[in-house]
Amino acid sequence: MKAIEVENLIKRYGSANVLNGINLTVEKGEVFGFVGHNGAGKSTFIHTLTGITRKSSGSFSILGTPGGELDRVKKKIGVMPDIANLYQHMRGIDFLRYMGNLAGDMRTKRSYEELLEEVGLKGAGGKKIKSYSFGMKKKISIAQALLGDPELIILDEPTSGLDPESAIVVRKMVTRLQEEGKTIFLTSHNLDEIEKVSDRVGILTDGVIKKLGTPRELKAQAEGGVQLAVRTKPVLTAEVVNELKEKSGLNLAFVETKREFTLLQLPSDDELPRLTRALLDGGVDLYEVKVEERSLEDVFMNA
Ligand SMILES: Nc1ncnc2c1ncn2[C@@H]1O[C@H](COP(=O)(O)OP(=O)(O)O)[C@@H](O)[C@H]1O
Ligand SMILES: [Mg+2]
Repeated sequence: MKAIEVENLIKRYGSANVLNGINLTVEKGEVFGFVGHNGAGKSTFIHTLTGITRKSSGSFSILGTPGGELDRVKKKIGVMPDIANLYQHMRGIDFLRYMGNLAGDMRTKRSYEELLEEVGLKGAGGKKIKSYSFGMKKKISIAQALLGDPELIILDEPTSGLDPESAIVVRKMVTRLQEEGKTIFLTSHNLDEIEKVSDRVGILTDGVIKKLGTPRELKAQAEGGVQLAVRTKPVLTAEVVNELKEKSGLNLAFVETKREFTLLQLPSDDELPRLTRALLDGGVDLYEVKVEERSLEDVFMNA
């Protein structure tokens, strides 16, 4: 049985096809990262799978249960929504207890407190949610998604807007949940952030999953030469780089100028000696060269 199976899912809002034929299988026990720019349709996808909004066409099943019979599996799914519908006037611990009762959760007070501790909110249960910081609200919203010990945990942008330390707490929690055998589906608009915890990543572009694979597979696809940051006098311009390219026959590309550095692209660092010679021949003095690793975010999200 698969955790999530989606076939040709289409969701229209008005005349816009926000989801335009999504095909996806998420295995049980997997951490799947769903990435896309703001407005790409990530939350819409989650809303469709969890019954908050109706699909326009296509089909899906969750934990082996068809989308039309979602009520049968809702207890096995925990969802952290994108904009947490938190009860601001409640104390954190009471919020969990209240949501826990709704979820049919049988935890005692002590384990609610443990849950708070797990998400990094130790000691904050007695404070009202309205006094929580943004990060604390995210964390209690994640704790709420874990109520009832769900098999499938869906987290919509759990780390976005969090400080780096809190993001690490969340990532560790995701890993621990996976070790317990849970399936985790999470979204982010940042590929570099999500690839750290995900077994596989899908990139949502124009309503479809344009790229899908393990972070390693995506990295292999991303390799399209090396990027160099060179510090020269005079600072290189796009025109000068084009002249150098024509004279030397190097497959050289100008990317941008960042202060005194110019970013250049070469097919491989084997070409570096030819580049330095071409620079000197062109009357350009070279002071520094740095080979820059391009992140997945750079390759796939800023293309
Ligand atoms: N209830 C709605 N009614 C109309 N349009 C919507 C609704 N919800 C989302 N949209 C539109 O669908 C697109 C995708 O939104 P969303 O799923 O929230 O993207 P993401 O979560 O990837 O940032 C956006 O253009 C958004 O304006
Ligand atoms: Mg969203």
